[in-house]
Formats: sequence, C-alpha cells, structure tokens
Amino acid sequence: MATAPTNTAGLQDVVAATSSICFLDGKQGKLLYRGYDIHDLAAHASFEEVAYLLWHDDLPTQGQLDELNASLVAKRDIPEAVTKLLESLPKTATPMELLRTSVSALSAYDPDGRDNSLPASLRKAERLAAQMPTITAYIHRLRQGEPLVHPRKTGNTAENFLYMMFGKEPDELSSRTMNVALVLHADHELNASTFAARVTAATLSDMYAAITSGIGALAGPLHGGANEEVMKMLLKIGDESRVEAEVKGIFERHEKISGFGHRVYRTEDPRATHLRQLSEELGRRAGNLKWFNMSRHIEQLVMQEKKLYCNVDFYSASTYYTMGIPIELYTPIFACSRISGWSAHVLEQLGNNRLIRPVAEYTGPTDLVYRPISQR
Ligand SMILES: CC(C)(COP(=O)(O)OP(=O)(O)OC[C@H]1O[C@@H](n2cnc3c(N)ncnc32)[C@H](O)[C@@H]1OP(=O)(O)O)[C@@H](O)C(=O)NCCC(=O)NCCS
Repeated sequence: MATAPTNTAGLQDVVAATSSICFLDGKQGKLLYRGYDIHDLAAHASFEEVAYLLWHDDLPTQGQLDELNASLVAKRDIPEAVTKLLESLPKTATPMELLRTSVSALSAYDPDGRDNSLPASLRKAERLAAQMPTITAYIHRLRQGEPLVHPRKTGNTAENFLYMMFGKEPDELSSRTMNVALVLHADHELNASTFAARVTAATLSDMYAAITSGIGALAGPLHGGANEEVMKMLLKIGDESRVEAEVKGIFERHEKISGFGHRVYRTEDPRATHLRQLSEELGRRAGNLKWFNMSRHIEQLVMQEKKLYCNVDFYSASTYYTMGIPIELYTPIFACSRISGWSAHVLEQLGNNRLIRPVAEYTGPTDLVYRPISQR
C-alpha cells in the first residue's frame, strides 16, 4: 500500500536529485566541487578552471584550459540589440531585473537556437558565462551614465570584468579577490536558484529559460540578494560605536540579520572563511578597516545571542564595497559566477532527465457548490 505523502516545509532535507557536481556537509563545513575541496580551489584555481571542472567532471589539462579560455574570450561580446534593450529599460529597474531580462533576450540571438542537445547546451553555457559579466559591467556603466567599455580579448573573466566596470586595468589584489569570489560562488548543490534552474530544464525547456529561472530565484533577499542587504545594514549602522545597539534592536524586533544562518550549514560556511580574509586584506590596503571591524563585531554578537554562523553573503558585502563596487551589483556578480554551476546542473539534468513535479498537501475545501455570479 502506498504511504501517505509527508509535507516537508521548504523541502528541508528532501533528496530531490542525484548529482556528482557538488558535495556539501553542513555539519563539518565541507564543500567539494566534483570531489575537489573548495579551500584548494579558492587558493589555486582560476574561475575558468572551475567552470571547466563543473561542466566536464574533472580539472582541465593546460591545453583544455587554453581552449576554454579562448572560447570564452571569443564569446564575450553581446548582441547590439541586447545593448539597446538595456538602454531602453527604465532607469528605475534594478541590475538583477536588467540581468534577468537581458539573459532571457539573449536566447533569441543564440546561433544554437532551440537545440537542446548536450553539445549545444554546453555552447550556450559558455556563451552565458562569457556574456553575463559583459552585461553586468554594461549595466553598471549605464547606471553611471558612462560610456560602455567593450570586453577585451585578453585577461581572465575576473580581470576583464573589473576592466569593463571601471574602464582601467585592475590591480593584482582586486583581480585576485574577484577571481576567488567567482570560484567560491560557482556552485552550491541544490540551493534555491539551482533547483529552479533544474525544474525548468526538466520540462525540456532550454538553457536560457533555465538560467532565467535561476536568476529570478537568486535575486531574493533570502538567497543571493542577501549580500546587498548586508551592506545596506552596515551603512545604516554607519559606525562601529553603534553596532551593539543596532544589532540588539534587530534581535528585539525579532528580525533576521542578513548574511547569517543557512539551510544546510551548522558550522562555519567554508566560503565565508576566505571572504573574511579578503575583506580584511582589502581593508588594510585601503587603510580603512571600518567595514571589516564592524562585520567582525556583528559576527561575534550574532554568535553570542543566536548561535548563528555567517554565510557566504556576509563578508562578500564588505569585500566588494572596499573594492568600490556599487551595492546593487553584488547579486549580479554572484550570478556571473553561479552561471557555471547552474549550467552544469542543467547539463546533468538533461543527461538523465525526468520531469520534476512534486505534489501539494491540499488544505482547501472540497465540497463547494458553484453559484451563478448573480447570486454571489
Ligand atoms: C538562509 C535562511 C533563509 C535559511 O532559512 P531556513 O533554513 O528556512 O531557517 P529559518 O528561517 O526557519 O530559521 C531557523 C531559526 O533560526 C533563526 N534564524 C535563521 N536565520 C536567521 C538570521 N539571519 N537572523 C536571525 N535569526 C535567524 C530563525 O528566526 C529561526 O528561529 P526560530 O526557530 O526561533 O523561529 C535564513 O537563515 C535566513 O533568512 N538568513 C538571512 C538571509 C541570508 O543571509 N540568506 C543567504 C543564505 S546563503
């Protein structure tokens, strides 16, 4: 006899897919991409190596990496129609809205069209990974009222992105930081946006539809949008002397503190370890440790009061802020990295597909009688 379905709110602890892409142990704070420890990847790998790893199941040889780098560089330009689309959208649109809309529009210009085969989907993944940083940098320039900076044929994704944003050669620490941030955000098992992307892919809709779903899910403040909320909170607090009172106020009002807590981790998020270090290193170089020190203080208070660890979004806020990146670009940058993981999951889903279609526990009435509109 079939057992009655159980309702697990938020699908907590539900195994909804098999996957060989990302291993996450929330108790031990362990994160592996295709078996490689995130600490090793953050210390040694380029974002391109990680994208190759996620897409192809192992680290590339030098030849394979050279080929991928050349392929990504060749795909960096975006269609002029998408630039025009970006220019035509209201100035009030957020960068995440602009990114989601332009990624959706890109599908109409992809030479692989509706081809959903694995080779075509991989080419689409490469195009998206190459073009999303260009779109994000364009969005920044547009919002600043500055001329667009076209992508270069040189430099890795991190360097080229910073070059397109700021219109000048990035320094070594900024490039290294951006590369590490891209590596750290590349994948994270069945997080909400990856699940959204897999659900869309599983209907045999295409890569662009899946990634558009992922971007939509990432934008919310409970997910990728948290990094922007963290920086808004730091700016609102404004000074280290006010940290204690402000955080106490948040506790008293029973509000959530962005950048803390996690569905899976019950210990330090291994990605936060690296971002904490980078936030401090950048603060020292800038001669301004204010944002780092405030973050440290908040971290201690939240641990004391709530026993909650910070997540990936907490120190990425002060890291990006110290690099001079505008707040509303933090989540689009997350997306520029997560495109590698999202697309790897879409490829995996398409390789062994079954429609994802759970059931709901119905709680409404069952015996209502239809009444004509004139009688209601
Ligand atoms: C990430 C997050 C959505 C996980 O949610 P979840 O697994 O559904 O956990 P819940 O929201 O049910 O939280 C469980 C408990 O911890 C508390 N909690 C979780 N995160 C908290 C936070 N950031 N600040 C204060 N309390 C928090 C909840 O209030 C709840 O307490 P209760 O049991 O007394 O009601 C949640 O921790 C959160 O909202 N964090 C802030 C947003 C954020 O940083 N998101 C980025 C995640 S990488």
